Amino acid sequence: MSIYNTYMLYRMNYLTDFGGIYRRYKREKGRWDSHLENTKQFIINSVEDKKGTIVVLGSGWLLDFPVDEIVNRFNRVVLYDIKHPKHVKSLAAKHSNIELVCGDITGGMIEKCFKLKRSQLKSDLFNIVSYLSSCKFTIDYKADCIVSLNILNQLDILLIDYLKQKGVKSDKQLIKLRKMIQERHLEFLSDYNHTVITDVEEEWYSDEDELLGVKPTLYADIREYKEQKKWSWNFDSSMTYYDDKKVILNVTAFNGFANP
Ligand SMILES: C[S@@+](CC[C@H](N)C(=O)[O-])C[C@H]1O[C@@H](n2cnc3c(N)ncnc32)[C@H](O)[C@@H]1O
Repeated sequence: MSIYNTYMLYRMNYLTDFGGIYRRYKREKGRWDSHLENTKQFIINSVEDKKGTIVVLGSGWLLDFPVDEIVNRFNRVVLYDIKHPKHVKSLAAKHSNIELVCGDITGGMIEKCFKLKRSQLKSDLFNIVSYLSSCKFTIDYKADCIVSLNILNQLDILLIDYLKQKGVKSDKQLIKLRKMIQERHLEFLSDYNHTVITDVEEEWYSDEDELLGVKPTLYADIREYKEQKKWSWNFDSSMTYYDDKKVILNVTAFNGFANP
């Protein structure tokens, strides 16, 4: 599903968030480096025996992606995000095997949420989970492997924030929705050889680095993926994500194989 509606993306905070990732990366002055290197190395190891077409979901600024290794190994590299920054467009212009797609990886939930009216949301009969349940992300070409690049729980976060702002009050429904979005993403991936890198929880710290609490960010069950690599991502030390605490993200990476 392609998205070209900049107004919608702006109103739903996707564009601000997109720029925010790069600004936070610069602000953290190297504190993201070990996470970015771990992600790149995990991808390199995962595709060691693969060639053909690779699809990258959540390519964004390509901060966490081993561009050279992948561009040289695969005949076709398809990058998906809601937007592609200038340097990624220049990269694609230089390499004939890179394709850029501006697409909604939730299969149209962004647009469906944007179309909702406050009056609909206020009705006791309205159920956001069933309203969005028909959305399905698909690709119509053969992919030899797919990388889900630090996006699994990003797919729900901005939608949930938007729905809360529009008036959805039921935390129970919103958690159900987060779970459904994440499960759908894993279901889509299960038809392909795939690599997933995702944060699974936030650790909160005080100014004096005292642990204040831990919050899950993953609602789908990933226990079936037996081999998991884990590390920490020093995500926000300047208290700009939350204004009263620093955030470390616990990250998990794993591989899955196409269903026979
Ligand atoms: C944490 S970032 C991933 C980091 C990224 N690989 C980078 O280096 O910038 C999550 C990415 O998911 C994208 N994203 C979030 N929801 C999306 C959706 N529904 N469809 C497509 N991309 C989405 C954001 O635009 C962002 O680039």
